[in-house]
Amino acid sequence: MDFTRREFLAGVAAAAGGSFSRHAFAQADAGGSGAADASAQLRQRSVVFMSDLHVGKLWAEQKFKTDRSYDYINETVRRLVRDILSLKEPPSHAFILGDISLCYGEERDYEIARELLSPLEQAGVKIVATAGNHDRRGPMARILGDWTGGGCVPGRFASITHLADCDVILLDSLKEPDPDAEDNSAGRGGCELGEAQAAWLEGILASAKRPALVCAHHTAWALGINKATVKSPRVCGFLHGHNHSWQENILYSSYARKTMIRMLGIPSMGMDRDIGFAVVRQFPDRLELAQVERDYYFPVKTPAEERLPLWNCLVKERHGRRVSFPFEKLA
Ligand SMILES: [Fe+2]
Repeated sequence: MDFTRREFLAGVAAAAGGSFSRHAFAQADAGGSGAADASAQLRQRSVVFMSDLHVGKLWAEQKFKTDRSYDYINETVRRLVRDILSLKEPPSHAFILGDISLCYGEERDYEIARELLSPLEQAGVKIVATAGNHDRRGPMARILGDWTGGGCVPGRFASITHLADCDVILLDSLKEPDPDAEDNSAGRGGCELGEAQAAWLEGILASAKRPALVCAHHTAWALGINKATVKSPRVCGFLHGHNHSWQENILYSSYARKTMIRMLGIPSMGMDRDIGFAVVRQFPDRLELAQVERDYYFPVKTPAEERLPLWNCLVKERHGRRVSFPFEKLA
């Protein structure tokens, strides 16, 4: 049993529209072993990518106050998790591209993240996460250590996940701020790969036998690996978070080398600007990403009567857009 491309996209659209009242996983499993087998098979084909959850304590409970209240974020993430569980094609994995914490990487933020995403784990979705500039590795490892990969690079949350038709490489691009620095309370970490992780990535790219999707919180440009990923014959694309927006760019290494890959920024799960996630399905010759756009607001969510008409336009235009990542590339 296999879902057609049309059914895949219809499932994405239905889930994002909130029209599914049933639980797709429960439905598949309720049909006996045949349905369960079909569900297991389908799980090998579809995964989701999310970023910039920014969940945490309510504003009144925070030790360091953000400049405005983001108390709506946790419930938005909870709602989008339900959307993922309502997808017609259940995902095998949920990849998180950093900024799980609201702002300061506090342990309580990660406890809240685990609670909000626990329905995914209960449904059998494997969660693989890396850090963003608002995360702190110590608290994140203590609470969410089982989400952070297999220790490919000491002190980093780098990981490689083997899917049916490709590998997903998560890089850890967090440069932790100096805890004694004056601006530490503002939650501003930087970005860097570090020597050990850069060497690990170089080795992976040099020996890759399967198509690979490279992902990090920050862009390939910010990390200085845009040319390396383009030159690797197996890297089919680059996904990042950080900007809370669907942002498409093309990476190339030089005018002389006739090859390129797509780099795509994915939205926030709940904070601001584009609100949504990406559903990626594997085909034998490509990955196909469907944008799930659930809302748009900037700088913060507002009552319906205060919504700018443009926000609704953006949601409508961006939802359901498809982006392909072909495996074949000239090199
Ligand atoms: Fe963020």
